[in-house]
Amino acid sequence: MDTLLAGKLALIVGGSGGIGAASSRKLAEAGARVVVTHTARSAEAAQRLAASLPGEGHLALPADVADTASLERLRDTLRDRFGEVLHILVNAAGFTKPVPHADLDALDDALIDRMFQVNWRGQFAAIRTFAPMLKASGDGLVVNISSIAGSTGVGSSIAYCAAKAGIDVMTRSLARALAPTVRVLGVAPGVVDTGFVPGRGADFNAKTAATTPLRRVATADDVADAVLACATALRFSTGTTVVVDGGRSL
Ligand SMILES: NC(=O)c1ccc[n+]([C@@H]2O[C@H](COP(=O)([O-])OP(=O)(O)OC[C@H]3O[C@@H](n4cnc5c(N)ncnc54)[C@H](OP(=O)(O)O)[C@@H]3O)[C@@H](O)[C@H]2O)c1
Repeated sequence: MDTLLAGKLALIVGGSGGIGAASSRKLAEAGARVVVTHTARSAEAAQRLAASLPGEGHLALPADVADTASLERLRDTLRDRFGEVLHILVNAAGFTKPVPHADLDALDDALIDRMFQVNWRGQFAAIRTFAPMLKASGDGLVVNISSIAGSTGVGSSIAYCAAKAGIDVMTRSLARALAPTVRVLGVAPGVVDTGFVPGRGADFNAKTAATTPLRRVATADDVADAVLACATALRFSTGTTVVVDGGRSL
C-alpha cells in the first residue's frame, strides 16, 4: 500500500458502481480512508466493497443524489464520525437509458427531467453539500465523472450527452468559484466495460474496440487511474477534464 494519500478522507458518490468501486480501490491503495455511497439497490455490494478495501476505517453509507436531504444526512454523519474536513469528493453516480437520437418522441419530458436530476443536479447538489468541508481541508478536490458524449454529442441519448456537457461546464465554473482551496476536475471516459448502459454487452464492446484508435474499450481501472492522477500527479490543474477514451473521440 502507498502512502501518497495517507490521512485523507475521500467520498465516492456512486462508489458501488464499476468506476466508483475501482476509484475507491485506487484511492484506498494510495492510503486514503474511503466512504462509498450506495442506494437501496446496492447496499450489500457497497458494504462488501468497503470491507475489502486495503487500509482501515472505510465505510459504506446510503445517499441518493436525486434526494438532496439524503446528501445532507450523509454530510452530518461524516461530520459526526470524522470532523469538519473532507479532502476528496468523486462524483461517480449516474444512470442512462438508450434512446436513438432520431427518435425524438422517445425522449419524453419525464426521461429528460430524470436524466438531468440524477446526472447533473445530483453532482451539483453533492458539491454544494460538501463544499464547506472540502474548503476546510485547505486542499480539497472534486472529480466529476463526465463522458466524451458531452463533447462529441454521440452517446446513449441526447439528454445524456447534454447532461455530460453540463458537467464539463460545471467543472470549469466551479473550479473558478471554489479556488484556491478546492480544485475541480473532470474525467471523461469513452466506452467503459461496466454494466452502465442497459443492453450493451460484449458484442457492443468488441465493435467499439475495433473502431477505437487504441483498439480496446476502457476498463474501470483505466478511469480510476485518472481519478487517482487528479488527486496525486495533477496538482496544478483545475477546471479541466481529462479524456480517457483510447482516442475514440479523435
Ligand atoms: N460505463 C461507461 O461506458 C461510461 C462511459 C462514460 C461515462 N460514464 C460515467 O461513469 C459514471 C459511473 O458509471 P459506471 O460505468 O461505473 O456505471 P455503473 O456501474 O452503473 O455505476 C453507476 C453508479 O451510480 C449509482 N447511482 C445511480 N443512480 C443513483 C442515484 N440516484 N443516487 C446515487 N447513486 C446513483 C449506482 O448505484 P446503484 O447501483 O445503487 O444504482 C452505481 O453505483 C457515470 O456518471 C457514467 O455516466 C460511464
